[in-house]
Parts: sequence; C-alpha cells; structure tokens
Amino acid sequence: MKILLIGFGVVGQGFVELLRDKAQELAQRYHLRPVIVGVATRSQGTLFHPEGLNLSHLLDAAAAGGLRQYPDSEGVQRGEDIKTWIQRSEADVLIEASATNLETGQPALDYCMTAFEAEMHVILANKGPIALAYNELRAAAHMVKRVLRFEATVMAGTPSLALALDALAGSTVLEARGILNGTTNYILTQMHQGQPYPEALAEAQRLGYAETDPRGDVEGWDAAGKLLILAATVFETRLTMHDLQVTGITGITTQDIIDAKQAGECYKLIAHITPQGGSVQPVRLPLSDPLASVSNALNALTLKTDVMGDITLIGPGAGRRQTGFALLADLLVIHRTQAAALE
Ligand SMILES: NC(=O)c1ccc[n+]([C@@H]2O[C@H](COP(=O)([O-])OP(=O)(O)OC[C@H]3O[C@@H](n4cnc5c(N)ncnc54)[C@H](OP(=O)(O)O)[C@@H]3O)[C@@H](O)[C@H]2O)c1
Repeated sequence: MKILLIGFGVVGQGFVELLRDKAQELAQRYHLRPVIVGVATRSQGTLFHPEGLNLSHLLDAAAAGGLRQYPDSEGVQRGEDIKTWIQRSEADVLIEASATNLETGQPALDYCMTAFEAEMHVILANKGPIALAYNELRAAAHMVKRVLRFEATVMAGTPSLALALDALAGSTVLEARGILNGTTNYILTQMHQGQPYPEALAEAQRLGYAETDPRGDVEGWDAAGKLLILAATVFETRLTMHDLQVTGITGITTQDIIDAKQAGECYKLIAHITPQGGSVQPVRLPLSDPLASVSNALNALTLKTDVMGDITLIGPGAGRRQTGFALLADLLVIHRTQAAALE
C-alpha cells in the first residue's frame, strides 16, 4: 500500500510513528505493508521516493526542524508542486492531514479531488473538505470506485463515525448530542475546580490541547465543524454554519460556574444536531446526565436511534497517537476492502 501524506504536524507524525512502531503487527496480523512514498507540508514542500521513505528518518527530520532535514540519498525527490506530486506518484492512498479551513476547505479539497482523478483512495483528518463538500467527494470517489474515509475528523480515533455509519447501519440515527471539543471541556473542568478562565486556557495551551490562537475552539467553531460533518454523513443533509447556532465558552464567568455548582449542575459545551439543524452552546447539565461526568479533554457522543435507543461513546477526541490511530484504522478498512475485492 503506497501512501502520500499531506501535513506532517501533530497528526501526520503520530500516524507515521504508529506505522513504524506497529510495522510487524500490521504485517503479521493484517498482511498490511504500508509504504510512505511521499510527504508534503506548506513550508517545506514535497518529498518523494518511489520505493518508500524511511519512517525513522522522517520523524527525525521533523524533530530537527522539518522535511528539508530528511537526508538526501539516491531516489529522493523534492520540490514539486503538490498537485503534480499527487498525479505522478502512482500511490494507492492520499492521507490529508493539513490545516483545517472551515470556510473553503481549500487547498485540501482540490488535493483530494486530484487524488480521486488519479484513482487513489482518500483518508482525511482535515475537517474542512468533509464539512463543506462531502457529496462532491463521495461522488468523485464513487466515479473511480475508490474509498473515502474520514474517521479522524470527529472524536479522533474514538470510532464515532464508524459507530454511526458502519456499526449502526440499518438503525436510523435521529439525533446526536455530545461534547466534541476537548479544549473547551478541559477549560470548563478546570473552572469547576476553581481556576479562572484565563489560567485554565493557559494551562490547556501548555498541555498542547489548545492552539496558540484558541478562537476556533473556545468560540465553538471546531465543534460546529464536526456537527456539519455529522449532518452531511449521518443525516445526509447539507447544512452550513448559518444553519447552526454557535456560542462558545468565552462568556462564562466564575460566578456562572459557582451558581451552577450550587444548583448541583455543571457547564458543558454541548453540540447537538438533528436533520433540521443544530447548535453548539454552553448548557447547565444535572450531575446525573451521562455527559456531566465526561471531564478534562475527553469527548463524548450520544446517538439517539430508532431501534437501539440511546448509545453513548466516550473517548479521546484529539492527540498525536489518538488521531494518528484514526488514520491507521481507516487505512485498514481500505486494505480489507481491497483484499475482499481480490478474493
Ligand atoms: N491535533 C489533533 O488532535 C487533531 C484531531 C483531529 C483532527 N485534526 C485535524 O488534523 C489536521 C492536522 O492537525 P495537526 O494537529 O497535525 O496540525 P499541525 O500540527 O498544525 O500540522 C499541520 C500540518 O499541515 C501542513 N499544512 C498546513 N497547510 C498546508 C497546505 N496548504 N498544504 C500542505 N500542507 C499544509 C503544515 O505544514 P507547515 O508546518 O509547513 O505549515 C503542517 O505540517 C487538521 O486539519 C486538524 O484539524 C487534528
């Protein structure tokens, strides 16, 4: 399985680390021998080797400042335009793990379309293209009989989409409600333990949960992007940000938290979606609500279904290996699909 990887930050490196650490297990247990033939980033350009790049050298290069630190040797090629790099690669799978753009989905959307034109499978960690153009991507994949997977985009490696789309196929999901942003959940948990908002945010940044510019998280847009993905994929409804009511946690004061605690309640940033629309907003939950006990950076999702009633999934929603794992799980799905087609 020849792989191209766009984006070599937290997630891309976590994925490569898993491939390196689990190489033997993947070969023995699943007969999967993944080869990374190319990696590209915005500031460091493209790197390519038709027979495969060395995974440890890739990780060492990233630790030493970026892909340009990857050692030159015979067969290593650099500096192509990303679309040409995709077209010429003869790879089987494109993995898109570059920065999310929830306004246009670009340039990742174009890269995915180029990969389908080149008859590759596509796996995304990047939320933008799925949130904004799921139908177009699905049609493009269908046209060339290739697979589109995107487990990492909602709750990282905690299999929320596999649950809703694969395991629950045949049971209709009526609504979804959950905690879909780990940064805000961490901040709210700290505030309930007495920390003021600025300190809780600084702590979240120190631990690597929150970006240097945390607005996407604390203003609710990251969770809203995940709701658009759930709407598009689970409800097959194309919603836009305008169909969602989005309020973040920046308006919650220490006094609000004290009032909630005195009433035996706690604040959670709740994302809720039905086929008609949805919202992201801070909600006071009674401590008996299953979502009230989901603390720190954990995520949770409750799916209300017609046959199975409510099903709640709790797990990590971000992280280097946790999100890298989602990419690996998707790769294994593609591998199994290919193996089944060959039987
Ligand atoms: N971190 C998580 O836990 C997590 C969880 C779920 C989903 N995700 C999603 O996964 C994706 C990657 O996240 P991350 O945490 O790995 O981000 P990150 O550490 O900031 O890394 C982003 C990578 O994408 C590259 N990149 C950015 N824009 C690009 C472009 N236009 N063309 C090519 N490469 C580009 C960056 O290159 P430069 O460094 O050269 O700019 C960098 O290598 C994001 O879409 C994120 O929303 C992340």
